[in-house]
Amino acid sequence: MEIAKLLLAWYKCSKRDLPWRKDKDPYKIWVSEIMLQQTRVEAVKPYFARWMESYPTLENLAEAKEEDVVRHWQGLGYYSRARNLLQGVREVSQSYGGQVPQTKEEIIGIAGIGDYTSGAILSIAYNKKEPAIDGNVLRVFSRLFCVEGDISMPATKKVIRKLVEGEMSEDYPGDFNQALMDLGAMICIPKTPRCTLCPLKSCCCAKGKGLEGQLPIKKKKAPPKAVRLMAGVIRQGETFLLHQRLNKGLLAGMWEFPTVEIQGDEAAMDVFRKFIHEETGQVIELERLLLECTHIFSHRQWDISFYSCVVTSEKEVPIGRGFKWVNRENWERLSFAGPHRKMEKYLKEKSAQESLQFS
Ligand code: ADE
Repeated sequence: MEIAKLLLAWYKCSKRDLPWRKDKDPYKIWVSEIMLQQTRVEAVKPYFARWMESYPTLENLAEAKEEDVVRHWQGLGYYSRARNLLQGVREVSQSYGGQVPQTKEEIIGIAGIGDYTSGAILSIAYNKKEPAIDGNVLRVFSRLFCVEGDISMPATKKVIRKLVEGEMSEDYPGDFNQALMDLGAMICIPKTPRCTLCPLKSCCCAKGKGLEGQLPIKKKKAPPKAVRLMAGVIRQGETFLLHQRLNKGLLAGMWEFPTVEIQGDEAAMDVFRKFIHEETGQVIELERLLLECTHIFSHRQWDISFYSCVVTSEKEVPIGRGFKWVNRENWERLSFAGPHRKMEKYLKEKSAQESLQFS
């Protein structure tokens, strides 16, 4: 219990002042935890503020339209998290009278809530003694107890979970978990831990053995696989041909400029022309390169070239699933997929510069 005592004393005077710590509303904690799985605390703050302005309560969110919810997530990435959050909140609204359940058995069955999120919500909102073990906690505990197994392996995670359970505060499990989050973010940081400032330095095994720079052990992830893509900004007067991605997989359901993957040394322009003709019935010509960009996902890298195109066939109703002619004004409501948002922004800026009437 020495660890919990030292940690809680430190947390009392060093905790970060964060918007989702202002009260113990389980809905707000849930939203913040899902957002924090995506990006850094500082990047989450404006998203969290906008979200709570639009959806201040669980019921507000449960009644929201999915496309609006996804738009609030735009830029955080991994949009299935936003969809699962919405689905989970609807489940709570329908099956639990709008009250986020207080037991592990109930809460873990809800869409988008796994082991970590359930522990965070139950401990922070309801003060239940449940660990919330993320990468930070794995790092902190692998150092505290000199755990030398690979922290990406389930067996090592199990060992660490037991250690965390053994050290958790009986009275303040929520503060204990949040203190670990803050310690991992500010002191027990990945490469160069700030041990001189650490409240746990007297009981840290790695510090004692001089292993703090070596631990944790973590297998290197395979680098993302590079994929070459060709996309077309296909315009006819005031309308652009857009495509909605499938409801499953990467960037599910989001909008994009029509895109095709280029294999090996295929002639990209020919492949693209053929793809558009087969999918939509349109005959197009490529004009010029507008933008090249790279977008890195956890396991994929998109190297994407955007070309402006003109339609040389008579305008027809697109035949392909998910394709649509969209007026420039109407696409404000659409959520664009990753790099396609860059292209959309580029067009907006360009049209503003040229003061074209569709800007
Ligand atoms: N990282 C993950 N969850 C967090 C929280 N509740 N506070 C600060 N950092 C976090």
